[in-house]
Amino acid sequence: MAKSFLKTSELVRDEIETLITSALKFKSSEDQSQPLAGKSVALVFFNPSLRTRASMQVGIYELGGNAVVLEPGGTSWTLEHREGVVMDSDKTEHVAEFVRVLGRYCVAIGVRTFAALEKWEEERLDPILNAFAKYSDVPIINLESAMHHPCQAMADMMTIRERLGEGRKKVLLTWAWHPKPLPMAVPNSFALAAAQMGHDLVIAHPAGYELDDELIEETRKQAAAAGGSVTISNDVESAFDGVDVVYAKSWGSKNFYGAPDQDISARAPYRDKWIVDEAKMARANSAIFMHCLPVRRNVIVTDGVIDSSSSVVIEEAENRLHVQKAIMAHLLEGN
Ligand code: CP
Repeated sequence: MAKSFLKTSELVRDEIETLITSALKFKSSEDQSQPLAGKSVALVFFNPSLRTRASMQVGIYELGGNAVVLEPGGTSWTLEHREGVVMDSDKTEHVAEFVRVLGRYCVAIGVRTFAALEKWEEERLDPILNAFAKYSDVPIINLESAMHHPCQAMADMMTIRERLGEGRKKVLLTWAWHPKPLPMAVPNSFALAAAQMGHDLVIAHPAGYELDDELIEETRKQAAAAGGSVTISNDVESAFDGVDVVYAKSWGSKNFYGAPDQDISARAPYRDKWIVDEAKMARANSAIFMHCLPVRRNVIVTDGVIDSSSSVVIEEAENRLHVQKAIMAHLLEGN
């Protein structure tokens, strides 16, 4: 396995399968090993979190370790990540020192750093995550960056495997209306991982809400290699036809980074239309409903769907714990 865990496309299919198998063993308690005994893992949060923070802290504890939680600009110093900057403004410490110091205390560093949704061409390159990876002497675990949320995607793939078994499934990733633009990390990682698993992926979104071109190219390449397919649709009704999995997520338009009010105006016509409801679910193949959470009820998904027996959102969140234990255990083994 790679030195760090930054995105699933750095893993080959066998490594993804190994992680899912390992996570299932942690979940069933067949694996009760404690590879973090006597060790610490740093968790760096630039942004809020419920699932990621709680599941990482619990996971580190269950692996025998200690979590050091830091919030730059809150419980630790404000951080600069750019190269060659004269640091005479509001940033107190550079990532170059921050991660190397933490590496002297901790065996791995998790980092959450969302897109600011301000400068598309810069943020699509994941500059803060890459600065952490560049300077760190210990593995970096991506806990959601501007472009990727691989821990979420691994839990998603584990949940599909648990609920629907092995083999190729028809999987829909559907954009949903939300009152404000959100980052693309979750849809990017879900699309990539679903393609890597050889599923037939349908990505549905209104025109203007395309994912990153390079990400789509990589997703198509991965799907072809794994025997799956990628279809893109702008039709929120027919996209649901015959699918086994409905994965809902809202994201902002890359055309409106730095202009949130324009995005809000552009998406206004899609309210009430781009929502996962009972009528759309009825077009699917008795599909499971998935969302990474947090979710706005009756905005992204109706109460009727999220409260139905098709909804697996709580299991999906639980699986974050098991899969992250597997990721940490394997990273330590590999390093
Ligand atoms: N799905 C997810 O990452 O949840 P949090 O933002 O609460 O961590």
